[in-house]
Amino acid sequence: PTKGNTAQAIVTFTQKDTGVHMQATVTGLTPGLHAMHIHEYGDCGCDDAACAGDHFNPTGMPHAGPTDTKRHAGDLGNITADDNGNATYTALDTHITLNGPHAIIGRTIIIHANADDFTTQPNGNAGARIGCGVIGYAQ
Ligand code: CU
Ligand code: ZN
Repeated sequence: PTKGNTAQAIVTFTQKDTGVHMQATVTGLTPGLHAMHIHEYGDCGCDDAACAGDHFNPTGMPHAGPTDTKRHAGDLGNITADDNGNATYTALDTHITLNGPHAIIGRTIIIHANADDFTTQPNGNAGARIGCGVIGYAQ
């Protein structure tokens, strides 16, 4: 969680032949939709996670939703928290990889206070960064 927030998550990324499989388990949210993105820098060391930079965007695309072909690689879309503030999410994404120029290892995954509208530039109007994690290698 960033300062003053309670979001916690475990997110795993697994490289498959068809893309990167993501599985997220999140707690400490407000009920409803929350944007989830890959941000460019692997730094959660500041109070509001602004030091994680902008959305990971190696192809110079506009901000969009996860199913759009022209999008930031980091535009993973929204997760939905239940009435207890818990969310689970699974997806297969073809815009990110674990190796090469679109690799996400060493960057950050960030969960936001609000929903991503997939339209507003450059960030989907998703509000504050409430949770931040640096993506690394797992055992
Ligand atoms: Cu974000
Ligand atoms: Zn974006």
